[in-house]
Amino acid sequence: MPPAALRIQLADPAATRRFGRRLGELAAPGDVIALSGDLGAGKTTLTQAIGEGLAVPADHYITSPTFGLLHEYPGRLPLFHMDFYRLHGEEELLELGVEEYLEGEGVCVIEWPDRLGTLLPPERLHLELALTGPTSRVALLTPFGTRWRERLATIAREFR
Ligand SMILES: Nc1ncnc2c1ncn2[C@@H]1O[C@H](COP(=O)(O)OP(=O)(O)OP(=O)(O)O)[C@@H](O)[C@H]1O
Ligand SMILES: [Mg+2]
Repeated sequence: MPPAALRIQLADPAATRRFGRRLGELAAPGDVIALSGDLGAGKTTLTQAIGEGLAVPADHYITSPTFGLLHEYPGRLPLFHMDFYRLHGEEELLELGVEEYLEGEGVCVIEWPDRLGTLLPPERLHLELALTGPTSRVALLTPFGTRWRERLATIAREFR
């Protein structure tokens, strides 16, 4: 049985990029990755690397969706990057049509996922980033539902 939760040390930004790229390579249609962690923890940096792993073309640069809550990028699978830091309430989520993205065949990466409340899908990978130093981070991965369990075992082998 793979571990219920997995802790991965990210010694520097390059390690975060390698890890994110691998997540993107392993991503499957309909995946939801809920990214939490403080301001500046590296959520957008990790999302950029997930995009690389999903083969998002380099001219589609992934930024914080400061304007608009959601950006879509083409790749091996469509990547939907959401950042709900500036969300004003559930109405805005429904206007955005967030449920369709979450139930669709793309890959959703969500910063500040708690703002989704009850709309947060039960099948998801929860990934929390925390600072351990000026250039180091730790990622804590918790699978909710079954679809991430095997892949976490793969990630555990590769990154521990
Ligand atoms: N090991 C590391 N992994 C990721 N980022 C790192 C690391 N070390 C330093 N950093 C730096 O930390 C910053 C992380 O910023 P980023 O925008 O990715 O954070 P964020 O969690 O998305 O913040 P916000 O909550 O404001 O959206 C970047 O400037 C990055 O270069
Ligand atoms: Mg961010």
